[in-house]
Amino acid sequence: MIFFETGTVLKRETFDSDKLLIKVESDQIWQKARPGQFVEIRVNSRLDPLLRRPFSIAFTDESSIWLLIQIKGKGSKIIANSSQLEIMGPLGNGFPELENVSLVGGGSGIAPLIFYYKTYPDRVKRVYFGFKTKPNFNLYKLIPQKKLVLVTEDGSTEFRGLVTQFIECKNDVHLVCGPTPMMKALNKLISSDKLYFSLESYMGCGVGICMGCAVRKGDGNGYYRVCTEGPVFRADKILL
Ligand SMILES: Cc1cc2nc3c(=O)[nH]c(=O)nc-3n(C[C@H](O)[C@H](O)[C@H](O)COP(=O)(O)OP(=O)(O)OC[C@H]3O[C@@H](n4cnc5c(N)ncnc54)[C@H](O)[C@@H]3O)c2cc1C
Ligand code: FES
Repeated sequence: MIFFETGTVLKRETFDSDKLLIKVESDQIWQKARPGQFVEIRVNSRLDPLLRRPFSIAFTDESSIWLLIQIKGKGSKIIANSSQLEIMGPLGNGFPELENVSLVGGGSGIAPLIFYYKTYPDRVKRVYFGFKTKPNFNLYKLIPQKKLVLVTEDGSTEFRGLVTQFIECKNDVHLVCGPTPMMKALNKLISSDKLYFSLESYMGCGVGICMGCAVRKGDGNGYYRVCTEGPVFRADKILL
């Protein structure tokens, strides 16, 4: 079931130079959402920008959801500065519930993986998060240091480089969300039946009508809609 809610923004925390975590009041979505699902947010009451914008649920609290918003363009900037948000969700399929998984995220793609970790901490062996530079936000507040490998391109954390350089157990199932080059690199490292990607495609309607979010099927025969059949796909089911 999809809920339409208007929630007050209760808290804002700086994450890094272009991202912030926001906590939004929620009536039903926080109770129903599963890790890997997302919400569509109306930007404002005007016609420009017209389309709602999709954001993963980063985690939930009692009567609220948290979102990690990266400011990319007009929509995300308005959303990040709003005091109330019109939210539709939860949407999409979410991650499969598996044991002994590793999580791999880059940039704002860490959001649905935080939710997975917070929901199933005992099922997660390792978490690899990659950024250009160390975030201002202390991620160890959400994921313990013994499980989190925080990789930065500029070496501002202990692990310098790209997340793909630090993956230890290539035979484990990996749940992934982040930039396409990172997903392509993982496709070469890990068997595609052990790899699940959450895609952050461009979206139109968000509910399966417009085909604006289509991704090619792995066998090349037709398309999946990321908003309804996804956003999470096993790697061999799609062509990146
Ligand atoms: C299922 C899903 C979950 C998502 N979760 C998050 C999240 O948790 N946090 C987050 O910050 N973002 C997330 N996104 C991406 C987010 O929806 C877009 O960044 C946002 O819609 C951009 O809107 P805008 O109006 O600010 O930018 P626009 O003005 O629409 O575009 C600004 C720039 O960003 C680029 N852009 C726009 N949309 C995307 C996209 N989907 N992927 C790559 N580049 C894009 C455009 O090409 C342009 O260069 C998610 C997307 C999907 C589909
Ligand atoms: S965004 Fe319209 S079908 Fe997916």
